Amino acid sequence: MKLLVTGGAGYVGSVVTAQLLEAGHEVIVLDDLSTGHADAVPAGARLVHGTLRERAAEVLADGGEGSFDAVLHFAAKSLVGESVQKPWLYWDGNLGESLALLDAMRETGTSRIVFSSTAATYGEPEETPIVETAPTRPTNPYGMSKLAIDTALAEYARLFGFGAVSLRYFNVAGARLVEGGEAQGERHAVETHLIPNVLKVARGEKESVSVFGEDYPTPDGTCLRDYIHVVDLGVAHLLALDACAPSTHQIFNLGSGSGYSVREVIDMCREVTGHPIPAEVGPRRPGDPAVLVASSEKIRTGLGWKPERDLRAMVTDAWTFVQGR
Ligand code: UFG
Repeated sequence: MKLLVTGGAGYVGSVVTAQLLEAGHEVIVLDDLSTGHADAVPAGARLVHGTLRERAAEVLADGGEGSFDAVLHFAAKSLVGESVQKPWLYWDGNLGESLALLDAMRETGTSRIVFSSTAATYGEPEETPIVETAPTRPTNPYGMSKLAIDTALAEYARLFGFGAVSLRYFNVAGARLVEGGEAQGERHAVETHLIPNVLKVARGEKESVSVFGEDYPTPDGTCLRDYIHVVDLGVAHLLALDACAPSTHQIFNLGSGSGYSVREVIDMCREVTGHPIPAEVGPRRPGDPAVLVASSEKIRTGLGWKPERDLRAMVTDAWTFVQGR
């Protein structure tokens, strides 16, 4: 297939681009490089530099009507804290840019789309594990903007026959490593995620890691999260691409179905790196739910997907990736 990947210079987008190329697809990446890196785009994909508003219509129109088979839409701002400080960046940068993309797709007759949605659309869950029919009550503008895009996709499916799939990611971790080949992994300038921050301590870039709260109603008092290996996440995108059906918007949670505490993650990083990794307990981070674990039943039965790589593999691959940089 001929595919447009928005945000293909970012963490998840670059991994999935590599997997799409490996599967024999032709990939054009559109990325404004505001947080991504040009050298993260896998060789074999063509990079077009620009925002969706600036370039999506032109790229999709190139070669005539309907020449792209589908779009995989990763381009987004994804810092929860920043979204609370500067919500306009999220309404405009996520929702506004996405609407420009959807209209460019409509105008050029490209109607298949796989979208990176998020667990943040659910907010504080009433029940765990979270199923796709759970109430969506995001607690920050990041989650709200992603939920609004999910809603727009449902509308475009109903009104214009789009075949759309929203994948609601839980906690993505790990890297894609190929022996003797290029690697793709997490390279955020502003790093808020747990595993890369813990690995910074093992690398000697930070003295200790902060544990954000130890008084949650969980077995060891720290938050539980559902970690998913970025390669397993990518596999789900390839399955979702095949599952796009006209006039239908489907939503799938993407997590492993089991939770690990912050302390368990730090312990795994200690085992993998052999570094003592000092940890200091600090206050809770505002807006963090105690437990976020996906029910992955729907994607397992609907698309035949299952996670193959455990927490040890995520930490090991992330560690190999950062050491290679
Ligand atoms: N944490 C620490 N110390 C750190 C970093 C994180 O204790 O230095 C804790 C957090 O408080 C949280 C857990 O580690 O309990 C995981 O935090 P991350 O920042 O790695 O991930 P989140 O669960 O906050 O974020 C994920 C996705 C977001 C999404 C969010 C939904 O990465 O994109 O889930 O709540 F919005």
